Amino acid sequence: MDASRIAENEKKYVLHSWMAQKDFKPFIIAGGEGAVFWDDKGKRYIDFASQLFNVNAGHQHPKIIAAIREQAEKLCYVAPSMANETRAELCRVLAEITPGDLVKSFLSCGGGVANENAIKIAKAFTGRPKLISRWRSFHGATYGAMAITGDPRRLPNEPTIPGVVHIWDPLCYRCFFGKTYPDCNVFCADQIREVIEVEGPKLIAAIIVEPITGSNCRIIPPDGYMQRLRQICDEYQILLIADEVMTGFGRTGKWFACDHWKVVPDIMTLAKGINGAALPLGATVVNEEIADYMDDHMYYGGLTQYGNPISCAAAIAAIQVYKEEGLIENSRVLGLKLMAELEKMKARHLSIGDVRGLGLFAAIEFVKDRKTREPLVPWTVENYEKKDPAIAAVLNQLKENGVLGYSRWNVIFIAPPLCITEEQLMEGLNKIDKAIHLVDEAISK
Ligand SMILES: Cc1ncc(COP(=O)(O)O)c(C=O)c1O
Repeated sequence: MDASRIAENEKKYVLHSWMAQKDFKPFIIAGGEGAVFWDDKGKRYIDFASQLFNVNAGHQHPKIIAAIREQAEKLCYVAPSMANETRAELCRVLAEITPGDLVKSFLSCGGGVANENAIKIAKAFTGRPKLISRWRSFHGATYGAMAITGDPRRLPNEPTIPGVVHIWDPLCYRCFFGKTYPDCNVFCADQIREVIEVEGPKLIAAIIVEPITGSNCRIIPPDGYMQRLRQICDEYQILLIADEVMTGFGRTGKWFACDHWKVVPDIMTLAKGINGAALPLGATVVNEEIADYMDDHMYYGGLTQYGNPISCAAAIAAIQVYKEEGLIENSRVLGLKLMAELEKMKARHLSIGDVRGLGLFAAIEFVKDRKTREPLVPWTVENYEKKDPAIAAVLNQLKENGVLGYSRWNVIFIAPPLCITEEQLMEGLNKIDKAIHLVDEAISK
């Protein structure tokens, strides 16, 4: 089908997510390999967003494709209530690579529903109705996941499910408590105790966090935060849920972001990189105590396509690829290079207020004024819908120069596939460096 016909069909028949339909600009992707994809005219792009931060093993990995083909020929579907070799093997592998006593997985078909199931399991296990989550978070677009989401995308979806309390995030660059690390002694974690006390300790089932915040601007907690959070949860017998949908599977240079602080959550939710984004899949991994509880208690949940065996086969293959090809180590090592380059960029551009990252998971935050740290655009739902013109110009220039970039509010993200080479990474970064003058000029007007 020629490009104009594809564009016409897209415009005429497809309802696209997260946009007013008139804003859809057909950008046809015809193929990909590793960290690169190409459009219908054969123009190549370095994928600095891994599509949606999920093509972790690279585009069209032959081993993942072979596993999909093999499973499709063997058996395309089993009802969730049947036994199946592939699903059982994937859950065994997940128990092996997730930390501590995380032992059993409830498979689903994406990140939002993995969180939806985590919420239901936590409420059933504790018998408590409330949840705590953070303002600068995104946990998915279903109603429960939207309720725990803190960012402004929640607002047009309200009212969502009741009983969710939000707290401020460990964002040191803009400390919500006006403090400075390390003198603060990680006050942002300690204040959670106060929130628990006023909200009723016996009413709170779980605290859910992205250990490193993804689409809300890569918030890396200071050392001690995650450990303190674990301690507080233990004190009050509140479950700790780690949403590793974006951070899992090597994105931050370790299997899971929790591993940076050796913190073991009670429930971990996974999706995106779980099978290199080849097919829909999510997992809600629970610890032994919760798994034991579920032995004797019916779980009221499940959908027809949860844990599809082809998706599971792709996941087993992707996890093998992460191991065999050293992709998690590549993420760690190139992540150090990436941060060193971003620090140099910050020194060159007045519009950059902060750079943050771990592994191949980084962000550049733009400000109007470095001293006041006033963000280039405020963090509102209106600014989610409409990109800042200077940042939009940077993304356009990158696209012209063969790099797919990604932004939210005043931040540009960098998260290429974990198989990216140093040469490709440097090529993309040099192009970003050259484009940022557009923001420098906008703030100096
Ligand atoms: C941290 C986090 N949790 C959950 C989700 C939702 O995942 P999905 O789009 O697969 O439902 C996302 C999506 O970006 C995410 O970043």
